[in-house]
Amino acid sequence: MLASGRGSNFQALHDALPPDAPGRIALVVSNRDDASVLERAKALGIAAKTIGRDGTDADALAGHLRAHDIGLVVLAGYLKRVPDAVVAAWRGRVLNIHPALLPAFGGPGMYGRRVHEAVLASGVRISGATVHVVDEVYDHGPIVAQWPVPVMDGDTPDTLAARVLEVEHRLLPAAILAACGHMTRYAEPPRALSAAGEHFTISASSKGLQCLVR
Ligand code: GRF
Repeated sequence: MLASGRGSNFQALHDALPPDAPGRIALVVSNRDDASVLERAKALGIAAKTIGRDGTDADALAGHLRAHDIGLVVLAGYLKRVPDAVVAAWRGRVLNIHPALLPAFGGPGMYGRRVHEAVLASGVRISGATVHVVDEVYDHGPIVAQWPVPVMDGDTPDTLAARVLEVEHRLLPAAILAACGHMTRYAEPPRALSAAGEHFTISASSKGLQCLVR
């Protein structure tokens, strides 16, 4: 996982992985020495590394990923663009979670609180969370999973962010488990992760979220 901040999505994914999960979190990389996600990882016995603050050192990042034999890279609250060389080397195997319904409210500068401020300023009544494949353009690659969240009267950026975050904590594990399960079986990313226009289907049931790969 790549993360720049507190790491609640890292924690949610870690806690959601069943003992027989088809993958495990092997490494956390941050561009900030002081990111609390690093402490969370270390406390769980997971390797934690940092790269330069600007996140542009492709060799350092790729070196860490290779050293830990990483098959799937997951961005959660990672505030830097993944270097093109890393995107190319892990093509179709880099996912990001974004706290809005892409392609709206994404792109350069649209991160953290700013996303929710823009959503509220626009007057839309529905926001949500999106998991998508990372390509060379910010918040742009194929969408693999989305979940809507209502905007309520009186919402502030903080109350909306909290409501969206609850959904992120469920959507991200569902999408990752589906992707890892597929890759374990077929030794390659599902087509949904490498081709635009194909999607995971995430649906609600009395058992919670279900994520299917088509
Ligand atoms: C999440 O809302 C994520 O979608 C966004 O940044 C936030 C990170 O939260 N990109 P955390 O570090 O996982 O707690």
